[in-house]
Amino acid sequence: MTETLTKLAYQTFQQGKSIFGLAHKTLGTQLQGLVAPDSRQPTEPLSPELLALIQQRLNQLLETDWQEAEQGIYPVSLLFENPWNDFLRYYPLLWVDMPQSWERIRQKRFQDFTSEIKTAGYPSYYLQNFHHQTDGYLSDWSANLYDIQVEILFNGTADAMRRRVLAPLKQGLTGADVQPVRILDIACGTGRTLRQIRAALPDASLFGVDLSPAYLRKANQLLSGLPGELPQLIQANAEELPYLDSYFHAATCVFLFHELPPEVRQRVINESYRVLQPGGTFIICDSIQLSDSPELAPAMRNFATIFHEPYYRHYTTDDLNERLTKAGFTTVKTAVHFMSKYWVARKPV
Ligand SMILES: C[S@@+](CC[C@H](N)C(=O)[O-])C[C@H]1O[C@@H](n2cnc3c(N)ncnc32)[C@H](O)[C@@H]1O
Repeated sequence: MTETLTKLAYQTFQQGKSIFGLAHKTLGTQLQGLVAPDSRQPTEPLSPELLALIQQRLNQLLETDWQEAEQGIYPVSLLFENPWNDFLRYYPLLWVDMPQSWERIRQKRFQDFTSEIKTAGYPSYYLQNFHHQTDGYLSDWSANLYDIQVEILFNGTADAMRRRVLAPLKQGLTGADVQPVRILDIACGTGRTLRQIRAALPDASLFGVDLSPAYLRKANQLLSGLPGELPQLIQANAEELPYLDSYFHAATCVFLFHELPPEVRQRVINESYRVLQPGGTFIICDSIQLSDSPELAPAMRNFATIFHEPYYRHYTTDDLNERLTKAGFTTVKTAVHFMSKYWVARKPV
């Protein structure tokens, strides 16, 4: 009885987030049409069949999310976690931010950084207003808005998609001979994946690396309040991870690869291989690709059109299995949940 009620509460909570996300996007698009019509890019209409398929995939994701919590892979309470304070504080700023994003789109300014933003030392592929984000990844303003924007983009399922790394992660760590296990989250951003990992593996030593000091500051706010060992966050390029060879039992990487040029994807995979112990597990979560979800090609094309994602089109056709194998990984398994794809790779013993 309690289980049924909790599941119903979870479904209702997710439905609320989904409706909110759809309402926000509809209103935002209408306002853009009224205020800045020449900033709107033409998109492909999605057929009712395709929309029904997307809804079905979303429902399946939530069912899996619930089932894995029930199986004890992570606590059920995690399903209801939401950064409410941040939402109340920063959601209004999304609307404040929109006109400047539209103006940048209109003027085709996609690498737009004010003089206060320090851009020296970052790779050039990184200095982009990804998703038309004001200041790219390089300000507290951007870090404060990011999670709300991603939640809206995925109709409230961003954390549910991140949580799909937890089952293969725990499985990969079965029989690890050293405790506590060391887990690295590459491109940890604002720390959402590390937050999920901490709930599933309270005793693990957690590490996060990202290029953005502002996003790391935000991650620190989220993670430092949690019980347990403090995760170690470092500002660094994933192409040159500042760790010893064979240091980690497992590594995760969520929503990074579609924002990297092809040759950088290979370098990050090679580095992940280097820092993992023999027998270590590497899990990538990123966007679906054309090979696994050809029916969703119009949605992928729309994503590339609406958001500034200069490497996304190539990403959707990139063979990451081949890249992982080239780096030395074996037994690469893939899975798809809603709009995300997962690669689980093992470094041979
Ligand atoms: C789309 S966000 C994903 C963040 C987070 N993993 C999540 O689940 O929301 C991409 C992140 O990758 C980081 N990033 C991009 N290129 C990087 C690189 N070469 N090395 C380290 N971090 C990088 C950005 O700063 C940003 O935080």
